[in-house]
Amino acid sequence: MVQLSTSVYLLGGLLGLFLLSPVLMAPTPASMCTPLRTLNDSLSHRRRYMKHNFPINYTIKVHHKEILKLSDVNRMRSQVKELDELVLQRLWFQVNQGVLKKIIRVMPERHPSRPYTTELERRFKDVEGVFVQSHPAEVFQKDLPETIQDTWDHLTEEPERVPESNWRFASPKALLDNLCHTMQCLFGECFAGAEAPQHHCVSQWRKGR
Ligand SMILES: *[C@@H]1O[C@H](CO)[C@@H](O)[C@H](O)[C@H]1NC(C)=O
Ligand SMILES: *[C@@H]1O[C@H](CO)[C@@H](O)[C@H](O)[C@H]1NC(C)=O
Repeated sequence: MVQLSTSVYLLGGLLGLFLLSPVLMAPTPASMCTPLRTLNDSLSHRRRYMKHNFPINYTIKVHHKEILKLSDVNRMRSQVKELDELVLQRLWFQVNQGVLKKIIRVMPERHPSRPYTTELERRFKDVEGVFVQSHPAEVFQKDLPETIQDTWDHLTEEPERVPESNWRFASPKALLDNLCHTMQCLFGECFAGAEAPQHHCVSQWRKGR
């Protein structure tokens, strides 16, 4: 009897591990890879649409937390203990939906980069849709680590209430560079074997663990 219950426990434990492991080992569900690669394809044209069609040194005003670089992601990973990748992915969506909105807002209806940018936003939303669908709803209600919550609160602040010192100026191209590099890092499973920035990101992160 004792033996039986032990093996039941063992079996249960193994099953639990088995069920949990996809979440622990692969924070990016495979279903996200197709829309992510589609977005990545669009991003490969960013120089043409975000640089050539804008005045030289053109910048837009963004919150400093909206400048989310690879180095910021790596810093959060090293500062916050046991940081769940999913939390960083949520932050990535939150930051970049705002960034895309701000870029679109400065372009008149007939700006030559507008169709490109609205399509980019559509593709971004496709990725977000799959992201939300492929995780249980509870995941999105979980409390965020304090520093991440702090960043989140800044991002969702009313623009009128943001102190002047928290605004920065960034070029649309630089903002999309950030979006692209952090995407390839945070959803690394879908970009395995891609270029250097992502490798850098993965090795930094593994070292930190
Ligand atoms: C992402 O796009 C870049 C070009 O910007 C390309 O070199 C890379 O192979 C793409 N990655 C995937 C997985 O599609
Ligand atoms: C653009 O910025 C660069 C670097 O700050 C500067 O050297 C250059 O003169 C600027 N160009 C224009 C047209 O303002």
